[in-house]
Amino acid sequence: MSAVRVITTEELAAQHSFEETVRAFYEERLGGLVPIACVRTYGCQQNVSDSERIKGMLAAMGFGFSDDPEQADLILFNTCAVREHAEDRVFGNVGALKNLKRRKPHLMIALCGCMVQQEHIAEKFRQSYPFVGLVFGTHVLYRFPELLAGALLSGKTSVVIPQEDGNVAEGIPVRRDGHFKAWLPIMYGCNNFCTYCIVPYVRGRERSRSPEIILEEARQLVQDGYKEITLLGQNVNSYGKGEAHGVDFPELLRRINAIEGDFLIRFMTSHPKDATPRLFDTIAACQKVSRHFHLPFQSGSTRVLKAMNRGYTREDYLQLIKYARSVIPDISFTSDVIVGFPGETREDFEQTLSLIEEVGFTSLFTFIYSPRKGTPAAEMPDPVSPQEKVQWFQEMTALQEQLSACRTAAMVGKTYPALIESSAGAFLEARLPDNTVVRVQGPDSLIGQHVDVMVTKAKSWVLTGEILA
Ligand code: SAH
Ligand code: SF4
Ligand code: F3S
Repeated sequence: MSAVRVITTEELAAQHSFEETVRAFYEERLGGLVPIACVRTYGCQQNVSDSERIKGMLAAMGFGFSDDPEQADLILFNTCAVREHAEDRVFGNVGALKNLKRRKPHLMIALCGCMVQQEHIAEKFRQSYPFVGLVFGTHVLYRFPELLAGALLSGKTSVVIPQEDGNVAEGIPVRRDGHFKAWLPIMYGCNNFCTYCIVPYVRGRERSRSPEIILEEARQLVQDGYKEITLLGQNVNSYGKGEAHGVDFPELLRRINAIEGDFLIRFMTSHPKDATPRLFDTIAACQKVSRHFHLPFQSGSTRVLKAMNRGYTREDYLQLIKYARSVIPDISFTSDVIVGFPGETREDFEQTLSLIEEVGFTSLFTFIYSPRKGTPAAEMPDPVSPQEKVQWFQEMTALQEQLSACRTAAMVGKTYPALIESSAGAFLEARLPDNTVVRVQGPDSLIGQHVDVMVTKAKSWVLTGEILA
């Protein structure tokens, strides 16, 4: 039996009447003008995907959209709690709206997402930001129409942060940001409790969507012309665990790969402790699965990995990379790494540097450890000074830059398949299979198309290329 609480169709249908309430509220208030929503998203792709659902619900309530807060009748912040910096930005940006709210009293300022799922943060907004009208947590996203209707009609600040294990809500309308790249959540929450990380506390326990629903959504995306589908989860490798259907992540990949059409499958994030040889064998056999793999290692020191509760050693990680390269020779890796975890020594840090050198990542997402209230690491002794951590951080990014420069220099003169993703002023941006971006010349009509690109120049991290006919 599955322990997942699936929101019933009746529960979701109940939201439609609230959509009508909101629609009627604005019709009267704005004399028939379309209300405008400005949605700001912080954090990871999971939040980007949630925001696409929020925008779907807003569209169903009759809203139009703008990126300009001045134009908006409703401003919604979908927040992230992963590091202090992410939270500071939200406090700053919400604070900056005080005057706008004074000038425009009917403006609804709403907050949702991981940051406000923490009680002490929700309380801070309640106490010190009285101009915020609605605060709601991650587990009640599907009830947004109801919560918005309640806040609009009461005129009082409404804070709804149930502390649950989480649920799965299907059938929420989605308003996708992109036309050829799509996010497809396959699971929510996290059970890993890495000692530095707030995500399990604010996103609840791991729960997977049903394979049939995921496959149906993937088929629809391909039919709609999407060229790239990114499967999302905090640890996609534990997809299906504890479910009766018996479809695990490699099997899910195999089934999506079997959908007919010209598209690429990406996924994130993979936890090394659950990445198996079978996963890499599956990727090797599935031509539509990207040969780029994001595999966060966090630290190169086994001692620190243990303190982080990551569940693998430095050797396990290196072994995994070795196996992957043996079955998929053209695989490329990116990773996340944390510097300055409590108690990390210079020696530990040097192990991180040596792992970076040994693996040779395409690129790295590098972070300085940020204590998160309520996590075990926040209580650990942390003797290294912030200045020293910054110095280590710079040392690490310099090493990665040097490695990247060698890697990109070796790409000059070679040809790669690429997807033209966007126009950036004078040039187009093409993404190669290993996730590298190359600048090319060409008409905007190529956006969303697969082409072959020859790399002609590599200067620091900027690559330039030519589209081959
Ligand atoms: N579920 C993903 C990561 C989600 S958070 C995984 O396990 O790989 C994205 C990244 O933020 C993490 O990989 C980690 O490198 C970083 N991170 C998380 N908590 C952090 C903290 N307290 N301080 C600094 N970086 C952190
Ligand atoms: Fe955080 Fe670890 Fe879960 Fe990733 S796997 S979300 S780092 S607790
Ligand atoms: Fe941030 Fe929540 Fe993602 S904490 S990184 S938005 S899951």
